[in-house]
Amino acid sequence: MAHARYTLLQRLIHWVVAIIVIGVLAGGLTLGTYGFDGLKNAYGIEVTNFVYKYHKTFGVIILALMTFRLLVRLTQGKPDYDPPISRFEASASKAVHALLYAALLVQPVLGWLATAAGGFPVEFFNSKLPGLIGKDKALSETLYDIHGSVGWLIIALLVLHLGGAMRHWLINRDTVMTRMSLF
Ligand code: HEM
Repeated sequence: MAHARYTLLQRLIHWVVAIIVIGVLAGGLTLGTYGFDGLKNAYGIEVTNFVYKYHKTFGVIILALMTFRLLVRLTQGKPDYDPPISRFEASASKAVHALLYAALLVQPVLGWLATAAGGFPVEFFNSKLPGLIGKDKALSETLYDIHGSVGWLIIALLVLHLGGAMRHWLINRDTVMTRMSLF
């Protein structure tokens, strides 16, 4: 197995981001489905505050990790496919990867600004980050709507991403999956 792989740093960030994104999506979908009052009535205020706080906190962590990851990707590049993949697959995976980077960078900013415009705290663990914009209820609602749509876009991209990875791993049984595997 002497084919080229992503660097250890790139492979580590990939899996850390993957785990955090799954958790943040699960929390976000819970918030979007129940809303503040619904969640509070169903599970109580402590659970509700916990889900909000850690959705925001780990969303901001994704923003930091993805910014760092983009810089690493731009400086360290990516390995060539060995054996090469078809031109169609190369374009399709490039588009999905680029959209995942863009969506995972934009989504936390939307959540941050929607929260601040709603007059709510941008929590980061037990502290608060600056809101960056003033209170504006109408703007907040628009930003939350876009935040919800981008959430579904991320889910659709992850389905494509996972589908491609699984096909290479389990059906083609080629070297694509091990380019990103940790060991
Ligand atoms: C990559 C990072 C993030 C992802 C993938 C994500 C995803 C989501 C999703 C899917 C929803 C449900 C939307 C709906 O169904 O209407 C949601 C809701 C929410 N997000 Fe995020 N989010 C991220 C980052 C953030 C950040 C950084 C903040 C704030 C600092 C934030 C604040 C919120 C809030 C307050 C809600 C609940 C909105 C409501 O009550 O309707 N999110 N998020």
